[in-house]
Order: sequence, then C-alpha cells, then structure tokens
Amino acid sequence: MEPIIIANWKMHKSQDETRAFIEALKPLLGSKKAWIAPPFTAIQEAVKAAQNAKIVIGAQNMHDAPQGAFTGQISSSMLKALGAQFVLIGHSECRHVFCESEDLIHRKLVRALEEKITPVLCIGEKLEERETDQTADVLRRQLTSALEGISDLQDLIVAYEPVWAIGTGKVASPEMAQEAHMICRKILAELSSEKIAAKIPILYGGSVNPKNIAGLLAQPDIEGALVGGASLDVNSYSQLIRTP
Ligand code: 13P
Repeated sequence: MEPIIIANWKMHKSQDETRAFIEALKPLLGSKKAWIAPPFTAIQEAVKAAQNAKIVIGAQNMHDAPQGAFTGQISSSMLKALGAQFVLIGHSECRHVFCESEDLIHRKLVRALEEKITPVLCIGEKLEERETDQTADVLRRQLTSALEGISDLQDLIVAYEPVWAIGTGKVASPEMAQEAHMICRKILAELSSEKIAAKIPILYGGSVNPKNIAGLLAQPDIEGALVGGASLDVNSYSQLIRTP
C-alpha cells in the first residue's frame, strides 16, 4: 500500500498561497497521491486547484453536531459540501490547547463516519506520560474512548503523534514509533478484529521531515505520516511523498 502522507497546514496559508502550492505540487507528484488539510478558509480553493490530480483535500477539525447554534463552528456536512474527503479528529492541539474532551472526540468520530468523511483519529502521549511509562495506557484509553461502540472501523485512519515530538524537532526514533504503532494495532484488533486492524493505516506524526521519514516508513506498522512544519514548503512536502 502506498504510504499516506498528510499535510496538516494548521493556521497557515491563504487561498492564494494554497492555490500556488497545489499548482506547484502537481508536476512534482509523479505517480504519488497527496493528502492536504488546509485551514477551513482555503478548502474550497484547494479542492478546485486539486481537480484532475491525485490530491485529496481534507479538514483539520469539525463540530460534532449536524447543525445548530454553535458560533464559530463548522459541521461535517459543510465540509463535505466543500469537497473535503477526510477530517483530523482529536489533534493534540485540539485536545491540549482547546481542551477537547475524549467524549467530544468520540462524538465527532461518530459524526464523521455517519457523514462518510474519513476520520483521521489523532492520539499520543505527553512527555510526562512517556517518562512515567504510561504510553500504552494512554493509547489504550484514547483509542477505546474514541472508538467505543463503533462497529465498523473500515473507514478509519489513526495517527500516532507523541505530544513531545510535535513542532519540537524531537522525532521519535523509528523503533520507538514502531513499538507505539504495534500497541495501537493490538488495541485496534481487540476493538474490531485482527483482519480489520491490519488494514487500518496508522500514521506517525511529530517532527517528520525529508531526512527522517524513510526510517519511519521502513517500520512494519507505520503506513504514513501526518506532517506539520515540513508540509508547508512544496519541495519538502513533495520529497516526503516521493520517499519510497
Ligand atoms: P510537526 O510536523 O510540525 O511536528 O507537526 C506535527 C503535527 O502536529 C501534524 O499534525
């Protein structure tokens, strides 16, 4: 399976910058597929620019209700109508900076699946949790709470992003990441079946760049990457995608 390399642009790039990035990316793609999550304000522009290219556009978050009095929020159906095909859910910045609870993350996940927009469930431990040997417990708690009661996990992507590696330049070693991915796969198998868990792509995120991606993708349980900083530059992002 071709690795899934998702660009999470966070709060970067205007509509013009988005269009220019995608136009510059197209000739660099080769036969590979790109996955980009621009800010909400640039999704429509991105979808338009990505037409007739192997570029999938998604969103960075969504609300859990179909509609209603929720000032400043965006629903899954609004994203779908713009052409977004996937959505990040439970990103560490949403959990820890914007205080999204595990229950809210579960509700968003259910909503995304109902809307048929692929959820990319982001999980990962904080530094103090790793240092006190709680990584496996945190991954179990986050996966179980998010996926509880969901019978069909076929259209799910998981992203393991250790919080201490995000935007810090401190990437997990390939062995460390592989160990966490293996734990996630085991928990996913318990929540569904080994057959389904084997097919759920588990991406690694946290300070991925063109120099360290090959070692990560060489691991048996790492099927791609969720990339922040290094996805903002078209040359660096296309190098990530073209890594065999
Ligand atoms: P960086 O690649 O900048 O560390 O960000 C990772 C991330 O949060 C992607 O979702």
